[in-house]
Amino acid sequence: MRTDADPMMPVRFISAAETADREVLVTWSDGSTSRFHHRWLRDNSPGALHPQTQHRVEETSRLDRWLKPDGVTVTVDGALHLRWPDGHESTFGSAWLNVHDYSAGARWQPHRPELWDGTFADRVARISHAELVSDMSARISWLRAFRANGVAILTGIEHREGIVAEIGEDLGRVRTTSWGRVFDVRSIENANSVAYTGLPLVLHTDEGYRDPAPTVQLQHFLVNDAGGGATTLVDGFKVAADLRSSNRAAFDLLVRTTMRFHFRDQDIELTAEGSTIELDPRGDVRSVRYSNHSCQPFLVDPDEMDALYDAYTTFGAMREDPAYRIQIPMAAGEMYMVDNRRVMHGRTGLTSGGGRHLQSCYVEIDELLGRLAVLERSVAVATV
Ligand SMILES: [Fe+2]
Repeated sequence: MRTDADPMMPVRFISAAETADREVLVTWSDGSTSRFHHRWLRDNSPGALHPQTQHRVEETSRLDRWLKPDGVTVTVDGALHLRWPDGHESTFGSAWLNVHDYSAGARWQPHRPELWDGTFADRVARISHAELVSDMSARISWLRAFRANGVAILTGIEHREGIVAEIGEDLGRVRTTSWGRVFDVRSIENANSVAYTGLPLVLHTDEGYRDPAPTVQLQHFLVNDAGGGATTLVDGFKVAADLRSSNRAAFDLLVRTTMRFHFRDQDIELTAEGSTIELDPRGDVRSVRYSNHSCQPFLVDPDEMDALYDAYTTFGAMREDPAYRIQIPMAAGEMYMVDNRRVMHGRTGLTSGGGRHLQSCYVEIDELLGRLAVLERSVAVATV
């Protein structure tokens, strides 16, 4: 029987069920009714799932379009029971049907991002590396804050080259790119990236020329004695949300215009495309890709070029505006972690000499959030 349910959701009980032409009509204890299609019920029948993995083992595309149960009853314990022509039987608990009641508007929902602006600097989640390793509830809170805000800071990190990848591997999986598994950021001669100079670094998402672009960046400060060079961060989702409400035409143009990004040196040549603001099928912002230094010439209809420059410039100016941008002076032994699909990062210019050495790596966000889900599962079990 399918019983898994959201414990926070008020549960109605099934008081009656009858089959109609293509669907079962369920009447609930509060008098409301819901429709559950025959095919949907058979497709999601507990017997159609592997008992261990809960993955479907019956082929949906082979379901008979006119499939109809022979019998529909409500059991003594209030579950919906169906008997199918081939002898298969299905039982659905009322709690499970409540959660999946698509007639009542049930839809898959993502974790909602908590948008932030230029006042957020003091509220960025911070824990020490020692806490991350030893305190599971601190680790969960920190990772949840990262999931909600797209940024988090780790402090008290041992001064050791390569430790950023060890932290990355502890959180998820490190992605190796042509920069290597770990890459150094310090001022060098003959720099192939403005990141390796002392110039200010305008806010950007990393590696727009990769497909897919890296999802999480870890930036560990091993040495930071140089003047200036504060880290700047901005919530691209907040900028996009405000642009959407203040200038819908500009927002739409940035959603539907394909940008191309490119990088080359003597060893590699990378090209990828994407829109500045990408939406998911619900129409919510899925990602922001803003990497002005690697963005190739805009190629659009001449009648749209001025509007595109206006939109791109508006978005670009908003991201640099202190109303949106936070500035954090990172110290040696600290690391920030950003969701590279959402949070743009940069730095103010270096104003004096002194050592500055950072090491970075990329981590896959699905692995990171997947590990968080396992931790949350173990906490849920411990509190039952
Ligand atoms: Fe960067």
